[in-house]
Amino acid sequence: MTTPLQWTSYVPGIWKTTIGAPSDLSPLAFIGREPKTEALQQMGEAPFPFGSGDVAIEQKKRGPLLSVPLTASEKLYGLGLQFMKLNQRGRTRFLRVNSDPKQDTGESHAPIPFVVSDQGYGILIDTSRIVTIHLGSTVRLAETKKEQIFDRNNQKGQWKATLVSERMEFLLPLEGADVYVIAGNNALDVVRRYNLLCGGGALPPRWGLGFWHRVPTLFTDKQVAEEALEYRKREFPCDVIGLEPGWHSKSYPVTYEWYEGRYPNPKQFVADMDREGFRINLWEHPYVSPEAGLYEKLLPLSGSYTVWGGLAPDYSLEEARTAYREQHRSEHLSIGVSGYKLDECDGSELTGNSWMFPAHAEFPSGHDGEQLRQMYGLMFQKMTSELYREEDKRTYGLIRASGVGASSMPYVLYSDLYDHKQFIRALCNASFSGLLWTPEVRKASSAEDWVRRMQAVCFSPMAMLNAWGDGTKPWSFPEVEHIVRHYIQLRMRLLPYLYSAFAKYHQDGTPPFRAMPLVTGNVQNESGAVSASAVKVDTVDAAYGGNKKKEWDDQFMVGDDLLVAPLFAGEQERDVYLPHGRWFGLESGETYEGGGVVRVAPGLEQIPVFVRDGAVIPMTPWRAHAPRQGEQMPLILCHFGEAEGSGSLYDDDGESFAYERGESVWRKAEVKRSADGSWTGTLSGHEASFPSTFGEVQWHFGLKKLP
Ligand code: GAL
Repeated sequence: MTTPLQWTSYVPGIWKTTIGAPSDLSPLAFIGREPKTEALQQMGEAPFPFGSGDVAIEQKKRGPLLSVPLTASEKLYGLGLQFMKLNQRGRTRFLRVNSDPKQDTGESHAPIPFVVSDQGYGILIDTSRIVTIHLGSTVRLAETKKEQIFDRNNQKGQWKATLVSERMEFLLPLEGADVYVIAGNNALDVVRRYNLLCGGGALPPRWGLGFWHRVPTLFTDKQVAEEALEYRKREFPCDVIGLEPGWHSKSYPVTYEWYEGRYPNPKQFVADMDREGFRINLWEHPYVSPEAGLYEKLLPLSGSYTVWGGLAPDYSLEEARTAYREQHRSEHLSIGVSGYKLDECDGSELTGNSWMFPAHAEFPSGHDGEQLRQMYGLMFQKMTSELYREEDKRTYGLIRASGVGASSMPYVLYSDLYDHKQFIRALCNASFSGLLWTPEVRKASSAEDWVRRMQAVCFSPMAMLNAWGDGTKPWSFPEVEHIVRHYIQLRMRLLPYLYSAFAKYHQDGTPPFRAMPLVTGNVQNESGAVSASAVKVDTVDAAYGGNKKKEWDDQFMVGDDLLVAPLFAGEQERDVYLPHGRWFGLESGETYEGGGVVRVAPGLEQIPVFVRDGAVIPMTPWRAHAPRQGEQMPLILCHFGEAEGSGSLYDDDGESFAYERGESVWRKAEVKRSADGSWTGTLSGHEASFPSTFGEVQWHFGLKKLP
């Protein structure tokens, strides 16, 4: 039987309904961030995107089934960190946390029941349980159209495994779930509203956007310092050194305590590294060793199954969270540790890796293994980010599992998978679900592969070499050392631009790294000016018309003005879809007309990056590490092309939460052309109570490529 749904307007453009009697443990409730109502109000009200009764619920034996109509050509995006496809239309997605997502089932480190339609709406399920979504992959008997049935024997070419279905079905947990409908003029609006519902995007500390190096497991304090100083000697910027298993007295399971044999004086070690401009990030996982000081406290607060012999604590309990936080505060934060890599909070029992506690595990809170597995990643992100917030310090770190509501969490996802194309697709897909992802570099099959991976990671949410198992260094392939140095330095030069893109993510929910379906229609009007059109559907589709088969899952936007189209080992050239308007090769200086596909062959020295005509990119000279709180850096404003234009520059102290207390400023850099053809640039003032991060200001006008 179909029941009509009662939707309550929740915040502008978002409606909520509760189906059944869901568990008290849900991602949004657990993360507990207030929606950014002011920013949502600025986006304005929007009409409910469905007709009455279009979205229906039926009670099935396996749980409530939510069904939503689809239009014939509708495209569906999101579902969290997906490696295999961009458009999920026609697929069934089993959204279970899985550490080893080698198959195209929807399982992932961060499966998220949030579907974004190119028709300008999103549907979000807030639950701590596994949800299965059929994105137009099921055909009901009553809706099966005879003309769509082909015979596999004699109409082979036309036969399809899935008939076209104009219905999306969500199998909700038996107990029910909270469901949200999110409206928007286009996919980007929907994603922005989702991020604002979750409290806005994460704003990392400035140093988080520098280069990261993770040292080999079992390194001693002296080896770490030596390796770090090599970065300074060779003029490779680096901000963060990550310690892998080996810093703990016991690692699998963990103690969270320093191993004296390798780190006899952790406080001194962290201070010495800090003096050279390096922050320390610590690897850990959730499973507590019987030798840990925390063990006795956590024992009565843990689940009925162990992992590697260690406790799996029930962090849905405040008491367990407090114990974890107190230990981390006194043994890590108090000596200056900057953050964590929260590993192995995912887990799998299907793909040969049977190390996780089972779904039927029981926890003292009354929650079960399925819920804790789906929520573990969120729990660690919340516990640790709050620890830093209490100290008025921002953190930035790594997480291997995530879920709904993580947009404001300062964590970047990673994986043990290593397919470069999948890594770039994951970067694109992450942007639909409030996630950040790093295509981390570990090793390479050749110098070419090394360069291609390094170039791409420098244009990602976290530029990182994870040498934990391979002992690689950025200069591991001497013949291409200069190329790698150039890109790591370029990452640092772009720091003001990248930081501003993240500030926008925080304030208005626009992801700093965006898949192409999130590029709204910039249409050239008759006078030649480029304006953001108010089209209901992205123009991407129309613009992509000539090359319909390609998903453009291998290129993405960084901020509003840079488009990055990585090359992969073995490729000498590639197609790039450029949105409307004129573009310049950031390093090649070539001019391109957008609104179609261009082919580029930049050679190994370059990754294809395109900059919009009229863009003003705020940059700085390369530096060994990000400026410290109170330290200044020169500002270089680079205006590109022939059109007048503007750019935005965000500033705050870079390290604390003072920006939430009003200590932040947006400055506008504007470039105009006078009648005689000469350029003038104006930068609005730093009208704020805190000191500016920018010292001397330099302008470049009419650039065709980076100076
Ligand atoms: C893996 C993780 C790697 C590395 C390793 C150390 O789970 O994905 O990046 O940290 O553990 O044992």
